[in-house]
Amino acid sequence: MNTINTENDLESFHVPVLLNKAVEYVLNENLNQRVIIDGTLGGGGYSEMILKYLRDDDVLISVDKDLNAIGHAKKLLDFRLNQVKIVNDNFANIKSIMEKCGFHKLSGIVLDLGLSSYQLEKEEGFSFMKNTPLDMRAFKKDNLKASDILNTFNKQELTDMFSKYGEIRNADRLSKAIIDRRRNKKFVMTFDLVETVTEEYRIGRKDRMNFLAKIFQALRIEVNSELENLEKVLKEAFEIMISGGRIAVVSYHSLEDRIVKNFFRDKSKKFIESSNPFYTERAAPGLKILTKKPVVPAYTEVKLNLRSRSAKLRAAEVL
Ligand SMILES: C[S@@+](CC[C@H](N)C(=O)[O-])C[C@H]1O[C@@H](n2cnc3c(N)ncnc32)[C@H](O)[C@@H]1O
Repeated sequence: MNTINTENDLESFHVPVLLNKAVEYVLNENLNQRVIIDGTLGGGGYSEMILKYLRDDDVLISVDKDLNAIGHAKKLLDFRLNQVKIVNDNFANIKSIMEKCGFHKLSGIVLDLGLSSYQLEKEEGFSFMKNTPLDMRAFKKDNLKASDILNTFNKQELTDMFSKYGEIRNADRLSKAIIDRRRNKKFVMTFDLVETVTEEYRIGRKDRMNFLAKIFQALRIEVNSELENLEKVLKEAFEIMISGGRIAVVSYHSLEDRIVKNFFRDKSKKFIESSNPFYTERAAPGLKILTKKPVVPAYTEVKLNLRSRSAKLRAAEVL
């Protein structure tokens, strides 16, 4: 695993996306003694900004499952280490993280999903432009690497993964090519996969790049259980959130955005539908949606940081 060691790495770790808006939404000025979680610390941009707005009796818990992000943030945020707790964990473990930090009630959580630029460029397996081991685990305590998936999943499992997470049509052709290859040679490096795709699909460079991006995205989502983690953190954050607490999520693809949108919609409904047709329980909604439509970056932000082009921010407040 690469570790950060140069000044240059520190500067280029990650350019935060929708920074001001995300931080503005997660902080409710009307609450006191706030406990805020930045669940995706990354390059520390959000945490650094949140700290600027925190009052002395507020606390920030900054979480990342990637040890490089943790190492980087410890240097970046050391000016306020008394007020910020930096935790190496999966944000899906939100309840145990809170407990370990000595808190039970949450006042806000912000998630800026996906990967940092550092991970995409320097860590193993994420980029199809460089030949590195097919790892893709952001959390090195997780068991399954991308190579394990390619070498062990059966055809149906591979097809399901590529169609669901990569939105790839006719994914069984790809699965068959993977299975044919691994009979002779196991997948070890990113270029093993690139080679398999290039041999199977005789397509132009631009289409091949787009196709590879979808394949790598699907693998990454599977390796890191990204959608399951998001569903779990939303549910558990809601359960431990105080009234007035905020949830703000920046997502980068439609599957993530749909999960957030549906969660907010369900929790803001006025009725709980009952399975008994004669009985409909009337319940107060649990959330108020703060962003009727998702907030997207301005043209100027996209121009400066291309990675921001697919970002969507949704926010809600617990009632
Ligand atoms: C887009 S970056 C966040 C950038 C950050 N907002 C900033 O200002 O620099 C996403 C980060 O979230 C982390 N991450 C993704 N899923 C996670 C999870 N389930 N638990 C903890 N960290 C996660 C990744 O390791 C990565 O460092």
